[in-house]
Amino acid sequence: MQVLGISGSMREDGNTARLVRAVLDEVGKAGIETEFVSLAGMQIGPCTGCEICQKEHFCHIQDDWDGVAEKMLEAQVVVLGAPTYYFDVNGQTKNFIDRTYSLYHRRRLAGHGGVAVAVQANTGGERAVQTIEGFLSTHEFVSLGSVVGNGFRAGDIDGDSAAMESARSIGRRCAAFLGERRG
Ligand SMILES: Cc1cc2nc3c(=O)[nH]c(=O)nc-3n(C[C@H](O)[C@H](O)[C@H](O)COP(=O)(O)O)c2cc1C
Repeated sequence: MQVLGISGSMREDGNTARLVRAVLDEVGKAGIETEFVSLAGMQIGPCTGCEICQKEHFCHIQDDWDGVAEKMLEAQVVVLGAPTYYFDVNGQTKNFIDRTYSLYHRRRLAGHGGVAVAVQANTGGERAVQTIEGFLSTHEFVSLGSVVGNGFRAGDIDGDSAAMESARSIGRRCAAFLGERRG
């Protein structure tokens, strides 16, 4: 799989999932293999700050983070999306991001393409997307764009045509990025 989309929302088929999948669907049109993963229902505990990962280069906590992290290492492009909770990403997404500290020491994600996606009801999404962009830049991803969509009830995002078009445009950029890499 070349492009991995991750929705950090606890709504499995909520607005974040739909906006992330809009990026993936466009990538798929170029014949590129994608995979979508929802963090809904997964057990992803917080980083405990133990610093064991400085030596082991992977998080030693045993939960569902591992499987998603392995997929992320395998993917050439990662599209990470989150719902906006109190002007930032939700807790599940933040736990997921914090645990990637274990991949940071050897810059294991450097050079991968990265996309930031956030959905807000009406405010705070820019800050949520900045948190994801901070994750991407810290790990030295190549930024392929970001989008903030609007929606409150699950499915509302389908009515935000500007965000959907933006997601599709980012999808085309992801495909071009992978095309350039293939030469
Ligand atoms: C605990 C909580 C906090 C929220 N905080 C904000 C907020 O600060 N700004 C905002 O515009 N929407 C806020 N919302 C609304 C969600 O961002 C919105 O419903 C979004 O579409 C959820 O995405 P999802 O369907 O992918 O979970 C909040 C929702 C919840 C449950």
